[in-house]
Amino acid sequence: MKLLRNVLAVGMGALLLGSCAKPKDAMEVKIDRLLSQMTLEEKIGQMNQLSGAGLSDDMKNQVRDGKVGSILNEVDVDVVNELQRIAVEESRLGIPLVFARDVIHGFKTVMPIPLGQAATWNPAVVEAGARVAAEEASAAGVRWTFSPMIDVSRDPRWGRIAESYGEDTYLSTVMGVATVRGYQTDDLADPTAVAACAKHFCGYGAAESGRDYNTTWIPEAQLRDVYFPPFQAAAEAGCATFMCSFNDINGVPSSGSKFLNIDVLRNEWDYDGLLVSDWASIQQMVPHGFCADLKDAAYKAANAAVDMDMAGYAYTSHLKELVEEGRVSEAVVDEAVRNILRLKFRLGLFDNPYAPKQDHPYYKEESLQTAKQAAEESAVLLKNEGNALPLDGGCTLLVTGPLADSPRDQMGTWCFDNAEGERAVTPLQALRQVNGLRVMYEPGLAYSRDRSQAGIRRAVQAARRADAVVCFVGEEAILSGEGKCRADLSLPGAQTELICALAATGKPLVLVVMAGRPLTIGTEVQLADAVLFQFHAGTMAGPALADLLLGKAVPSGKLPVTFPTMAGQAPVYYAHKNTGRPPVDVAHIDSIPVGAPQFSVGASSYYLDAGGWPLFPFGYGLSYTTFEYGEPHLSTDLLTESGTLTVTCDITNTGIYDAYETAQLYTRDLVASLCQPVRQLRGFEKVLIPAGETRTVTFELTPDDLAFCHADLRTYAEPGEFQVWVSTDSQSGKPVTFEYE
Ligand code: GLC
Repeated sequence: MKLLRNVLAVGMGALLLGSCAKPKDAMEVKIDRLLSQMTLEEKIGQMNQLSGAGLSDDMKNQVRDGKVGSILNEVDVDVVNELQRIAVEESRLGIPLVFARDVIHGFKTVMPIPLGQAATWNPAVVEAGARVAAEEASAAGVRWTFSPMIDVSRDPRWGRIAESYGEDTYLSTVMGVATVRGYQTDDLADPTAVAACAKHFCGYGAAESGRDYNTTWIPEAQLRDVYFPPFQAAAEAGCATFMCSFNDINGVPSSGSKFLNIDVLRNEWDYDGLLVSDWASIQQMVPHGFCADLKDAAYKAANAAVDMDMAGYAYTSHLKELVEEGRVSEAVVDEAVRNILRLKFRLGLFDNPYAPKQDHPYYKEESLQTAKQAAEESAVLLKNEGNALPLDGGCTLLVTGPLADSPRDQMGTWCFDNAEGERAVTPLQALRQVNGLRVMYEPGLAYSRDRSQAGIRRAVQAARRADAVVCFVGEEAILSGEGKCRADLSLPGAQTELICALAATGKPLVLVVMAGRPLTIGTEVQLADAVLFQFHAGTMAGPALADLLLGKAVPSGKLPVTFPTMAGQAPVYYAHKNTGRPPVDVAHIDSIPVGAPQFSVGASSYYLDAGGWPLFPFGYGLSYTTFEYGEPHLSTDLLTESGTLTVTCDITNTGIYDAYETAQLYTRDLVASLCQPVRQLRGFEKVLIPAGETRTVTFELTPDDLAFCHADLRTYAEPGEFQVWVSTDSQSGKPVTFEYE
């Protein structure tokens, strides 16, 4: 698919320069030679990943005895180097350990959560953020991160949408590859390079009802069209490792899936990296009801080519016995160990096993600037009535709300090594540093779930003395991430009450929403003059927001995920099918006359209480300026099998601010043997357009971009009529048509 070619044109560097390219023969010779010296116990030891336990005697003994191949969650560099010394100098074969950590959006200097990074629509910023994370994590001895999480996520109830790049296959693919490149560079043996991990393979984001770890039913054609592409692109870009997902797909847990791990990953994609289970996901095949006991789980996972058991003790408990019984062949074990040794050779650990001691590897000024740029570009302007924003820099401003001064919460989920938000600059702190701005502060609520009213009264009294009010609301960090699903997507606690009370003062009211997922904030948006949405944006969220609120920076973020009007709409996403009855004559539940006849309303696909459309669509985001799109121009209206269609579009900045706009390219296959989505993102370009000027964006489409997986599981484009848009979001713009023959 061109999707891959497009994205990989840049990623190919990694492949050609050997970060995870087909291993050189010399390396394979070394691997085979080492393997031939290993006992079965030592081989199984390599397949065992343990969670850090400092320098406990038990850990040191296991390392010395060759019973551990990798340790996760050890980030004390002195402990890392001592355990590594034991492995290298005191174990029989001196095989180095590889140390791993969930460095999901930064190690010390924290970037926006991945959902926020996706909102930048700027792969260069995402890559730069991953580079900072790798430089800091490797300084602590971490050379393997369990990131990027490239699960396409279409359900905001699911807590892990925070870790994803959102609902779209193409955007997730582009951001996933950029993240891999940032972690690994073109040389995985560079001491600051960190092995990336494409996770969770696969379909985890389709958890039924948005409930974490829940079952998934995904037809293979949809797996191939929606969920596989980001993983295939990551593999082609040289991503050094993959991780199984917790969920079962159509009844088979990923950790036991020969289809996923052998047929697709190894045979179709020719992948030679390491596949690690998720945390005890091998063991969890027992409660799944897929395995009878831990031995059965070890049997099925090994024969499904899961190379390494993360903290599950399945392999160390039963694999030797299974090999001796002939139920797992030693060749299977050898293949797993080869993949593990190959990772360690690629990382250069046999030559440079120790983390170099560094004086000040964290919070470098350029790292903080990278984090600030990412935070700035991740903010999405949802509303700006009467140009309430930007604020007057000389005004008296009331800063209020539970997220105005909460360093821990602005970091978001998966922040282990900076959990207390050290060095984080909050919006309150940043605004207080603005010369000329008179800042009053009343939190209103102590935290996002706070229901007390006392603080609200004080905030209202303060608002009466201010020229304008900025209220920072949203979710505490603990309300999103793994295992943090919500069935109600409204603002927690008494935040809506706070907003209502502030709105009643009649003062200009700006909402800044900081959260780990889309929220059903329709009421609050109505009450505010302006709304800026920022998925938890990390260390530099404060300075970024201060610049945006005061016009030193112009919002450029676009939503990577649809915002539902009500939670009951979920899952809701732009690339939906049209159905046989798309929403028409949408009646609201309160408008229906008492005793109305049955078919007087509701004869098409919508909700009586939530309508037929989302609150905000995928790709949506305003600016302080305005943009006018011309009609897309096509190089031809007939695309042939070997042809390329060039799409150009003029965009004019019709306002007074120089600003970035992200032009989005969508297509629709109007008639096909399997119903196709009403739109699909095929490209985007983030372009700076000076006030009053026009820029032309150019895209190329080939038949690969129009391909979909058919009932016979072959992927190709079908002849017929297509629509194409170049637009500012997934709901606007006028299409033009072309034929593919
Ligand atoms: C967790 C997550 C996975 C993470 C792993 C190690 O349960 O599912 O994403 O990398 O365990 O912490």
